[in-house]
Amino acid sequence: MASEPVNVNEFRELARQALPKMYYDFYTGGAEDQHTLKENVAAFRRIMLRPRVLVDVSRIDMSTTILGYKISTPIMIAPTAMHQLAHPEGEVATARAAAACNTIMILSNMSTCTMEEVASSCNAVRFFQLYVLKRRDISAQIVHRVEKNGYKAIVLTVDTPRLGRREADIKNRMVAPQLRNFEGLLSTEVHTDKGSNLEALVKGIYDTSLSWEDIGWLKSITNLPILIKGVLTHENARKAVEVGVAGIVVSNHGARQLDYTPATISVLEEVVHAVGGRVPVLFDGGVRRGTDVFKALALGAQAVLVGRPVVYGLAANGERGVRRVIEMLKDEFELTMALSGCPSVKDITRSHVTTEFDKPR
Ligand code: FNR
Repeated sequence: MASEPVNVNEFRELARQALPKMYYDFYTGGAEDQHTLKENVAAFRRIMLRPRVLVDVSRIDMSTTILGYKISTPIMIAPTAMHQLAHPEGEVATARAAAACNTIMILSNMSTCTMEEVASSCNAVRFFQLYVLKRRDISAQIVHRVEKNGYKAIVLTVDTPRLGRREADIKNRMVAPQLRNFEGLLSTEVHTDKGSNLEALVKGIYDTSLSWEDIGWLKSITNLPILIKGVLTHENARKAVEVGVAGIVVSNHGARQLDYTPATISVLEEVVHAVGGRVPVLFDGGVRRGTDVFKALALGAQAVLVGRPVVYGLAANGERGVRRVIEMLKDEFELTMALSGCPSVKDITRSHVTTEFDKPR
């Protein structure tokens, strides 16, 4: 691409040019037919905005507070695995970009820099995403290190008892490097004769028996707030509140797990209604524009998480690339607020959007 990217979608092509095919396919792909992958983005396009005019928008305040932590904008960094496959500085570069943008990064359990390296590289507020392993003793040790290193919350991912069928990874025989959070605890360099080595790794180490009762176990070993990531229904949203989570992330794992789940933006409101304001609801899946951030907030999310665009920014230009991605989304979101007549995030309401489910007024 000859000119500078003007939106986050253009970073995808830069990432494609920068990365070996195996890694680009890993970052970009979804499960099976990739129907949900397309829907996550397409469903945003079916939501229209209802701007209000003649509102004083000479000052726009995008800031918000998540679990008591003030951030500059309701755009956070989703946990995505193995950043060193995108750039040698890996998650350290991503965390520094998050700090520069004054937002929260959620570090993946499957990171290629250790949680200690990330913690000492920047003073941003950080959350940690956890997968519970068959070896509960190792998960407990990880949680202990998470606390010791100043992470402020645990984001427990609950949609991955097994890895979704990602056909590009199967064809490419995707290999995971040693994942450094597990160094000295277990080997993550799994090699199988057929298919995705990542799938074989997950099959070997993740606890497929994890259930609602285990939230109690997790609470018994940590005082950190626990959010659960991967809720798509009102039934599970109610259950999550019942077992005492501190927050919910509406997510279909960027369409990498179960294909033919609905676009996340189409189920956000169902979850928000079920939760009824008792805990914050965060959102991810398909956020590519500032207008998408605005739509998610109008439908009740407190903030959005961004996955792939951050990795594309990292692949294209390290820390600076990630910063550009977040800044672009911030700038677009700020402009959307101004043109919609919303000087602060609390001014964004349900009546600022219209969806295909709305009745004619
Ligand atoms: C992910 N995601 C993810 N989620 C998680 O809880 N732990 C993880 O390690 C990963 N790893 C991961 C790797 C890659 C390459 C992608 C694209 C995604 C899911 C991620 O947190 C988030 O739910 C989605 O990425 C959001 O969708 P978008 O923004 O990518 O459309």
